[in-house]
Amino acid sequence: MQAEQGEADKSHYPKHIAIIMDGNGRWAQKRHLPRIMGHPAGVKAVKRVVEFCAEQDIQVLTLFAFSSENWRRPKEEVSKLMSLFMATMQKEVNRLDKNNIRLRFIGEREEFSEKLQQKMAESERQTENNTGLTLVIAANYGGHRDMALAMQFIAQQVKDGKVSPEEIDESMLASALSMPDLPYPDLFIRSGGEKRISNFLLWQLAYAEFHFTEKLWPDFNAQTMQDAIEDFLTRERRFGRTSEQVQSLSS
Ligand code: IPE
Ligand code: IPE
Ligand code: MG
Repeated sequence: MQAEQGEADKSHYPKHIAIIMDGNGRWAQKRHLPRIMGHPAGVKAVKRVVEFCAEQDIQVLTLFAFSSENWRRPKEEVSKLMSLFMATMQKEVNRLDKNNIRLRFIGEREEFSEKLQQKMAESERQTENNTGLTLVIAANYGGHRDMALAMQFIAQQVKDGKVSPEEIDESMLASALSMPDLPYPDLFIRSGGEKRISNFLLWQLAYAEFHFTEKLWPDFNAQTMQDAIEDFLTRERRFGRTSEQVQSLSS
């Protein structure tokens, strides 16, 4: 794609943005609606944010849609979330595909219904050769669980004599975790005012820049995303080095 005249220099934009989409329940409650009404409003925000990232040539957008702890919510809310998940895929996957977006899922999908699992696999297959934005949906995802499963995989390889314990290093562990082929998130955003990770991408967020905002997820739009990117652009990413070193490296 050719850069239009006057377009912002995006070379320093984050390649991978990871978002905890929080505040749907409170958004609905503020409007005196049942909290589950916040979730369909959250889906509209997802569409705006996906569109923004695709337009801005962001490589990867990872959205936390359902945590491994969210099963603890009232049954009715969990089942509404599942049907919304299904309905949204049925409605939106063709459009994602047309827009050259590659859809992927991380998390333990075995716990979802057969129908949902089928739709997830089918959507991934349908969009796997797309070359635009990679949209990763974290569904029944937990950072601790991700690490435990990686350990099981590596332990099996040790047991089978394929790997010796001394060979286990950061890169081997990273390869056994979810989305090993994608760059780590550069920018982590959490809406809804809470300042915690809630068991999201614990390993992959090691050097992400964190942006917290009071905005509730259903109020997210291109402007709130742009604000988060502007905040990101003010940060100096040092990766352990001194500021002077970083400046001489970039000059
Ligand atoms: C995030 O919004 C959506 C999911 C966890 C599925 P919440 O439903 O957590 O909204 P609040 O935090 O209760 O307002
Ligand atoms: C984190 O939000 C999970 C998702 C956005 C899917 P929660 O609302 O579940 O997080 P806690 O419970 O407030 O930490
Ligand atoms: Mg919440």
